Amino acid sequence: MNIEGKEYRTIWFDEKNQAVKIIDQTKLPHQFIIKDLKTVKDAINAIKVMEVRGAPLIGGTAAYGIVLAIMEKNDPNFIKKSSEELIQSRPTAINLKWAVDRMMKKLTGVNNNELLKVALDEAKEICEEDIKFCENIGLNGLKIIEEIYNKKKDTVNILTHCNAGWLATINWGTATSPIYHAHKKGIPVHVWVDETRPRNQGSNLTSYELNEEGVSNTIIADNTGGILMQRGEVDMCIVGTDRTLSTGDVVNKIGTYLKALAAHDNKVPFYVALPSSTIDWDIKDFKDIPIEERNSEELSHVEGLDENNNVKKVLIYPKKSRAMNLAFDITPAKYITGLITEKGICDASKEGLGKLFK
Ligand code: MRU
Repeated sequence: MNIEGKEYRTIWFDEKNQAVKIIDQTKLPHQFIIKDLKTVKDAINAIKVMEVRGAPLIGGTAAYGIVLAIMEKNDPNFIKKSSEELIQSRPTAINLKWAVDRMMKKLTGVNNNELLKVALDEAKEICEEDIKFCENIGLNGLKIIEEIYNKKKDTVNILTHCNAGWLATINWGTATSPIYHAHKKGIPVHVWVDETRPRNQGSNLTSYELNEEGVSNTIIADNTGGILMQRGEVDMCIVGTDRTLSTGDVVNKIGTYLKALAAHDNKVPFYVALPSSTIDWDIKDFKDIPIEERNSEELSHVEGLDENNNVKKVLIYPKKSRAMNLAFDITPAKYITGLITEKGICDASKEGLGKLFK
């Protein structure tokens, strides 16, 4: 998608410099910086510190991480150790393990001198596939927006949480893809963007990318969605997910659950958009999902521009206070109107997912 009128993807391989290029998302929205990843450690660090984030993009970065490991040292023990370290770099998004497992499977039995080429082709394929899946999610979700517009004949107001936009994927996004498709079709849409404390992926990333694509949006504090729903100012919610169980329960950015409860109480449709790479077919009970707990400094400190336009980080909590920073929560399937996938829209249930993915 576009940044200042120029088309970008979030990750790509630079053949000339033999490096993986990423947009450093810790610097957005105030600075646009493209960064090189040259070693598997660079890839692991980029995932950990969230220079790249969002389930599908974490998966794509991990796939390229395997490529970088092979470039560094074409040795089976090093590649295996790197794959394990990549999987451990963030615990909740299942796309990470999915992508590493897929890469390792592809490399099994491959001749040493062909290993790099096979790995690079597969990493590229993982990213191309994600783009196609996200585009299809958009076309499937577009039907829901069209239906609302045809009834309402006025701007469709959509609430989203965190950033499940193109910056969280390779292109298009998951939750934003139906919105971009509707906008390109000329359907008037307006997005309520949850700020998404503590890391502000909503205000820093979602609002930023919607602005760049010319989609009307308004940032709101995370607790504002409820009253907007009570006032009839939200037609639907669409969020992304880091892991969806085969039962239809959804793990996503902290605060998603409370938004789903408010939507349920106000009869506002609540959709979750996801590629099939985000489905965890193994874990059956959401209590078994590892929920990432991040450094409390993400809560106690905020970053922004000072009066001289320099980026500055400041403490906003009392120095003696403790804080707790759980990064994800679980939305039970019963609060979800439907799952928008690359294969179609289904009920958030074992039966629903079973019909689309045999
Ligand atoms: O902590 P983050 O920024 O990686 O969390 C991202 C989300 O929660 C997204 O909603 C999710 O990964 C879906 S991305 C299409």
